[in-house]
Parts: sequence; C-alpha cells; structure tokens
Amino acid sequence: MKLRLDRYLAEMGLGTRSEIKKAIAKGLVRVNDTIVKKAEFKLDTETDTVFFQNQAVSYIEYEYYMLNKPAGVISASEDRKESTVVDLITERKRNDLFPVGRLDRDTEGLLLITNDGALSHRLLSPKKHVDKTYYAEIHGEVTEEDVEQFAEGVDIGDEKLTMPAELIILESGMESKIELTIREGRFHQVKRMFRAVGKEVVYLKRLRMGSLVLDQGLKPGEYRELTKEEMEQLC
Ligand code: URA
Repeated sequence: MKLRLDRYLAEMGLGTRSEIKKAIAKGLVRVNDTIVKKAEFKLDTETDTVFFQNQAVSYIEYEYYMLNKPAGVISASEDRKESTVVDLITERKRNDLFPVGRLDRDTEGLLLITNDGALSHRLLSPKKHVDKTYYAEIHGEVTEEDVEQFAEGVDIGDEKLTMPAELIILESGMESKIELTIREGRFHQVKRMFRAVGKEVVYLKRLRMGSLVLDQGLKPGEYRELTKEEMEQLC
C-alpha cells in the first residue's frame, strides 16, 4: 500500500501530524537508506522500511483486541475527562482504534477493539442480526412468563417490539441470575427489556458477540489480541 510518510508515522502513534512534520523536516526520519525531509513523500508499506530516530517502525494496518471491559469505563475512543476502553489497550500500535459497539459504563465483558471499519460495520449492521449473549443479575423474580414474553418480543417504548430473544433462567428468586441472547443492539436494550417486565438489572456482562466468546482468563480491564481462529470465524 502507498502511504504518505507523515500519515504512516501518525497512524503508528509516533505523534500528532504537526509534531511528525517537524521531526521529518529536522531529518529524524529515514526511508531505507535515505533521510527524507518531505512529509508528503509516498512510500510503499510492503517494501520500504521507515526509521524514526534510527528505530525501525513497522506498519500494522489492522489491530484486533478482545477486551474484558471493566465497569466505570466509557465505550469511546478518547475523552478529555474520562478513561475510555481504548486507553486500556496500552500496547496498541495504531492511533485510530475504536470499540465495536457500546457497552454502558456499568456493563462489563466482551468488547472488540479494532480499527477495521468494515468488520465493525458487518458486526453492528441492524440487517445482520448478530447474536449477543449477556449474563445478568436481576433484582426480582424472573419467571417462565418472562421467558415467553422475551421470545415473543417486548414493548420497550420504541416503534417496534424487540425481536425474539432467548432468556435462560440460571437462578430464580428475589435476586435472579439469567443469560439473555438478543439479536439487536438497541440503546440500553437489556436493561429496558427487564424494566418492561417490572424488574431491574443490577449487574450486566457481555459474554458473546457473534462467533466471538469472552476469554474467561481475562479479568476485567485485561485484553489480548484475537487469535487466528477467532479472526477467521469473524471474517
Ligand atoms: N444492554 C444494556 O442495557 N446495556 C449494555 O451495556 C448492553 C446491552
């Protein structure tokens, strides 16, 4: 792929575009054996080697991380005041990562962090109906009637009822534990579905999104790169 030198270095997180332009003008950047002082210089990411202050900077086009999102962090790329899910990916190479979809601040669990816009689109497109499975703890007794209602569709105050969802009761009592699989991604959907049947979600964690399953070895706040198998299944 052909890319401008300043863009190459900015995407690899070596500074802002203007910082990089200054470094290039100062002669701190080399492409193969030649110092290049023009930010607009076009290089070939496959055949050229770029050095920044004599350190080779390899180019990575896409990154894919599975994060176990902790509570208290917002699902955004950057924020002036708050810590974001992308801030947690401390070993990231690129500066354009984003979360695929959003989990509420208090929700934990599976979040894919990438810069692959096409994959994100495929996973989030309302037409694709990618299954998402959540584990939740509920204040109130979850009943077989709720299971039936969720399977039929619930009125959560939108134009349309929710699509059929699979509710599995793990424990039922004053406090219940469930797993719920939904095929949409409406705003606060799980919480609103339980509110519609008079119950409250007190803990929510995403376990699965399409073929991607949360790695149980990841503690909240931990992440890892996707494996080759996970990539193949997703793509
Ligand atoms: N549904 C919710 O209510 N919250 C989330 O974070 C995800 C799904």
